[in-house]
Amino acid sequence: MRHTQQVVYLDDGELATVRAHEFYTSTLEARRTDKVPTTVDLTSEDYELGGYADYMRKEIHEQPDAVRRALLGRLDDRFATARLGGIEVTARDVHSIRRVTFLGCGSAYYAGQMGAALVEELARIPADAEPASEFRYRNPVVDPHTLFVAVSQSGETADTLAAVAELKRKGGRVAGAVNVVGSSIGRACGNGIFLHAGPEVAVASTKAFTNMAVSFAMLGLLFGRVRDLSVADGRRIVAGLRALPGQIAEILAGEEAIAEVALRYAGAQHMFFLGRVRGWSVAREGAQKLKEISYVHAEAYQASELKHGPLALIDQSMPTVTIVPGDELLAKHVATIEEVRARGGPVVAVTNADLPSGLADAVIKVPCNEPELNPILLTVPLQLFAYHTAQKLGRDIDKPRNLAKSVTVE
Ligand code: F6R
Repeated sequence: MRHTQQVVYLDDGELATVRAHEFYTSTLEARRTDKVPTTVDLTSEDYELGGYADYMRKEIHEQPDAVRRALLGRLDDRFATARLGGIEVTARDVHSIRRVTFLGCGSAYYAGQMGAALVEELARIPADAEPASEFRYRNPVVDPHTLFVAVSQSGETADTLAAVAELKRKGGRVAGAVNVVGSSIGRACGNGIFLHAGPEVAVASTKAFTNMAVSFAMLGLLFGRVRDLSVADGRRIVAGLRALPGQIAEILAGEEAIAEVALRYAGAQHMFFLGRVRGWSVAREGAQKLKEISYVHAEAYQASELKHGPLALIDQSMPTVTIVPGDELLAKHVATIEEVRARGGPVVAVTNADLPSGLADAVIKVPCNEPELNPILLTVPLQLFAYHTAQKLGRDIDKPRNLAKSVTVE
């Protein structure tokens, strides 16, 4: 075997002495710690491009499989709920949770925001998300009845790790949601949800984001079924989760049409991404993807806030991507599109609804799932939109300027 599969994770203040045929671990004071190696079940193929030109596109296309892995063995048909072995809470504990707060940086923060909406809708527990990078600087109130969830693909983001340390110092309850087994955040939290996205190499997060959202849907389902989510609604969500991999594959099969829309607007200097309620975290993640890999200035706004300021920016040079879930707010979304177009702004609608023809300049249609889960599907075309814009502009997609995959410094 060309590559090692046995690893030992060192804690802070621990060191390893490695000789030709043995190793041992100890503290800085030379006290032995006797760490046992862990086997990593990844192969070098997991890190190969396998025919793709870059990792980002490969990872976008791996999403159906990644979601399947995240769901594997975690859906319980008998009680219409989810099983998350890493979350150490009893049903009684779930009743004592009065708030769930997701902490993460960048896309992990936006995934946390999507997670907060899912937990709040499914479990009716107040939930929110906050940038982990700000958390420790504002003397946060750490309530013992709040469950904090530290969200991180790499599990090594210094700001998120520092937020976990601050939480633990204050006696807070924290669970991790990490993709890299054995990572610092995973170990610091000691319990949580493993994301099962597989290695993510491209700087821009795609499959890890999706698996974060899917995991938070399962968390919401689990908590909801302990509280007041009915069996019928539990079944609806279980079926919806099972449908996700196939529906994501359907979106990916429409890549060419999405690429055409991206090429049409690739010359724009600035773009708006609008969403409301369920579409708001989708819009934020869409703008994040576009700005980080294409360097086009992209700003996400809540559609309802448009007339309170940013409407002044709308003209024919400012395309707007609107997220239009076919939910009870559809008429409001339609009104937003009309407002933007009345000011000459081109509109791309990303939707699972049948919109009146001619309403938007371009429509990217996605399949329909349950209202709570639709945000997960609506995010996928925005990854491809950003990807094809960046490709048209000749950017270094996997390694955008000034960014690192894992931000291990403050
Ligand atoms: C976005 C992106 C960054 C990361 C952020 C957190 O595509 O890559 O915003 O999401 O730096 O990284 P993790 O999830 O490793 O903590």
